[in-house]
Amino acid sequence: MTTIEGICREVIEKTEWIAIATTGPDGPHVVATWGDYVRTLGIDNDTVLIPVGLMHRTERNLTRDSRVELLCGTRQVVGAHGPGKGCSIIGQAQLQSSGPAFDSAKARFPWARAVLVVKAEKVEPQL
Ligand SMILES: Cc1cc2nc3c(=O)[nH]c(=O)nc-3n(C[C@H](O)[C@H](O)[C@H](O)COP(=O)(O)O)c2cc1C
Repeated sequence: MTTIEGICREVIEKTEWIAIATTGPDGPHVVATWGDYVRTLGIDNDTVLIPVGLMHRTERNLTRDSRVELLCGTRQVVGAHGPGKGCSIIGQAQLQSSGPAFDSAKARFPWARAVLVVKAEKVEPQL
């Protein structure tokens, strides 16, 4: 299991938003979520939870290819070249519209139609 810890956890604790990339029949597709949404739902070892209000194209992409890459960054963490550090999380994702993860997302974000459950397989710092 890949744990999200250390400098990458620090970046996630500060990031304003997180990019979410999937692969579709026409190529890459990128959407986003807010950092505070992800922090509200909590990061448990290798798992990031993202509330889904829309993300219909992302959902279609994931049903045929579950690979996902998240990318976030912040000036508030010092990197190798000065203020600014990023983190990429590569793994598998699934939309869930029932179960404990969904219940937790729905309780905090009543507009959520699902929760995106991302399981990290590789965590890579940037900068
Ligand atoms: C900074 C930012 C945060 C966003 N947060 C969410 C979010 O938490 N949940 C969501 O469903 N869409 C969010 N969106 C909108 C998505 O990026 C996307 O445009 C929308 O969900 C449609 O997705 P689709 O192209 O996969 O259908 C956010 C967009 C931005 C720019």
